[in-house]
Amino acid sequence: MNVFFYSFMKNIVVAIDGPAGTGKSITGKMLAEKLQIQYIDSGAFYRAVTYLTIINHIKLNEINKIIEITKNCNLSWEGEDIYMNKVNMTKEMRSLEVSNRVSTIAKIKSVREIITEKLRKYKELGSLVMDGKDIGTVVFPDADFKFFLTSDINVRAARRQQDLQDYGYQVQLDKIINEITKRDEMDINREESPLQKAPDAIEVDTTYMIIEEQVDFLYKSILQKINLGTINK
Ligand code: DC
Repeated sequence: MNVFFYSFMKNIVVAIDGPAGTGKSITGKMLAEKLQIQYIDSGAFYRAVTYLTIINHIKLNEINKIIEITKNCNLSWEGEDIYMNKVNMTKEMRSLEVSNRVSTIAKIKSVREIITEKLRKYKELGSLVMDGKDIGTVVFPDADFKFFLTSDINVRAARRQQDLQDYGYQVQLDKIINEITKRDEMDINREESPLQKAPDAIEVDTTYMIIEEQVDFLYKSILQKINLGTINK
């Protein structure tokens, strides 16, 4: 069956999980474009809340304040950007300061519950590709297509450095390796919805792949699954 017809008939969810720097966001964006459906970066929601705690001088041990600010902030995803009270926060939330804090905030159970509920609502609006750490396991355990991206740490750091450069931030590679390693450790070992591969996700090692190959691999896997009729109707 044609994939466009399929996603028109039924709201489909494509979940892309994996550690930082595996190319999840750009792959998700390009895949969604190819499928002509919405792309959502779930990490942007955790980053936006983190940015808010920074500008409001909230300390990491002030859990109640962090939960309160998460509850009350008006976050929304529009097009390919994250907005808070209609202000585009996409650049601010990519800074290293946010990256260094975000995993501590993402460990808080109530913060995860609030953001997970927000994320689930986007499915009501139509088919989507969502990337993150717990999309195939917790946010959408019934996702129609699940992928788990992995990659060598040096390659991931170099990609993240390029990403940061594109947003106007110059950061040394060893600082990025350090930040990614710490963040992985926290994301994998946290109690609440840790980063892990869903048993039914396809694992894709992207170390030697260019972005177009990653997108193509995911796209073809989706087509194959639809054509084999192995997806729940
Ligand atoms: O995808 P990213 O690197 O922008 O995500 C930033 C952080 O947000 C990540 O280190 C952990 C957290 N996160 C999460 O806990 N669950 C998600 N679904 C997405 C991100």
